[in-house]
Amino acid sequence: MNEKDDFLRQIPIFSQLSDDKLGQISKLGTRKNFNKDSVILFEHETGSAFFVVILGKVKLSRVSDDGKEVILTILNKSDFFGEMSILDGTSRSATVTAMEDSELLIIQRNEFINLLHSDPDISIALLIELARKLRAADIKLKSLSLKDAEGKVATVILQLADDIGKIKQGAMEIERLPFQHDLASMAGTSRETISRTLHTFAKKGLVELEGSRLRILNYEKFKELFN
Ligand code: CMP
Repeated sequence: MNEKDDFLRQIPIFSQLSDDKLGQISKLGTRKNFNKDSVILFEHETGSAFFVVILGKVKLSRVSDDGKEVILTILNKSDFFGEMSILDGTSRSATVTAMEDSELLIIQRNEFINLLHSDPDISIALLIELARKLRAADIKLKSLSLKDAEGKVATVILQLADDIGKIKQGAMEIERLPFQHDLASMAGTSRETISRTLHTFAKKGLVELEGSRLRILNYEKFKELFN
């Protein structure tokens, strides 16, 4: 394995592997750049590859019955996607779009399936990640169906904190909060509701907003209030 493949070590399903194995995986895959706003894969098409985000940020979305975009989640460096349709042989469950210029590692289906056969540690790690995603989807489904505007917005903030937040000086910091129209698509609400609710949270002293940075001042209390 050489230095440019270090990113593989950060990926949960590959983190336990030897340098040799990581080197092999890097050779199996192709690195490809995607410009901001380009579509990487479309919902409903047949899946033929597995993807790892080396650099950048992508959004997973679906179109609801009334034609609105619903963002399922946003993935960052070291996250992966595309495993579902190559495992169950059905179509892609979501559309994936680059939110910034991004570089991805692409592993073709056959190669990925061979990896799972050859290394039970990768298969188990993949199952653990799938369980984590299912839990997150369950929590989101429950909270979005039950809660008022504050609950919906808080759920999305907590999801982002979990995905990309960092604890800094005792507070949970989300350094680059997505645009308000994207937050609205994630929360199943309008951009105006996002704006109003974030200001309400700020007035209540729950969060601080500074440009695109959001700080949850007392993360434990925030979770208790909204979880
Ligand atoms: P696949 O269906 O092949 O293509 C779209 C990918 O988006 C899917 O595999 C998963 O990797 C990912 N995905 C779909 N739904 C979710 C979700 N709710 N949370 C996280 N990732 C998802």
